[in-house]
Amino acid sequence: MSRIVVLVSGTGSLLQALLDAQDSAALSAQVVAVGADRAGIAGLDRAETAGVPTFVEAVGDHPDRAAWDRALATQVTAHRPDLVITAGFMKILGPATLATAPVLNTHPALLPAFPGAHGVRDALAYGVKVTGSTAHLVDEGMDTGPIIDQRVVPIAEDDTEDSLHERIKVLEREMLVEVAADLLVRGFTVDGRRVVLGPA
Ligand code: GRF
Repeated sequence: MSRIVVLVSGTGSLLQALLDAQDSAALSAQVVAVGADRAGIAGLDRAETAGVPTFVEAVGDHPDRAAWDRALATQVTAHRPDLVITAGFMKILGPATLATAPVLNTHPALLPAFPGAHGVRDALAYGVKVTGSTAHLVDEGMDTGPIIDQRVVPIAEDDTEDSLHERIKVLEREMLVEVAADLLVRGFTVDGRRVVLGPA
C-alpha cells in the first residue's frame, strides 16, 4: 500500500477528501502522517479524529528557514512516504523537504495565472470569466512546478472570494484524490514542463 504524508496549514478539507478516499478503490493508499507549520488548526484535528499521527514544525521555532526545512524533512522522512501532498500548506518548501518524495500540490487558480496566496481573490479582481484549480508537482518556486491536471470553474456575476473558493474547492478535492491515485498507481515521468503518466 502506498504511503502519503499530507502537510496542512488550515481547515484541511482537502486532507479530509484524502482521508475519506484512502484504502478504497478510488485511492489505494494510506495517509500515514499529517504535518503542519502551526498548532491548533482544524486540519490537525481531522487527522487525530482519523487516528493518523501528526507533527508540527513551525518556522519560528527554528533559527532560519533552512533549519526549518531540514527539521520538516526529518519528520516527513520518518514516515517513509511515496508521495507528499501539500493540502493548503501555506509555506514554500525547501530543498531538503522536496528531496523526501515527489510533492503534489493543488492551487485554487488556473496556473500560471494567479499564483501565490490569493489566487481566488486575484482572479476575481482581474475580472477573468473562468478560473479553477491546478494540480502540479512542487518545485522551489511559488506555484511554478509542472502541471498535472486542471479543472475549470466559471465565475458568476455575484461571486465573492468565499463563494468562488468554495466552488473551486469542490472540484479541487475530487481532482486531488484522482491525481494522487494516478501518480501512485500509474507512475510518472517529467519531461520538461510535462508530467507524463505511466511507467518510466
Ligand atoms: C485550497 O483551495 C488550497 O488550494 C488553498 O487553500 C485551500 C485549502 O483548503 N491553498 P483546506 O484547508 O483544505 O480546506
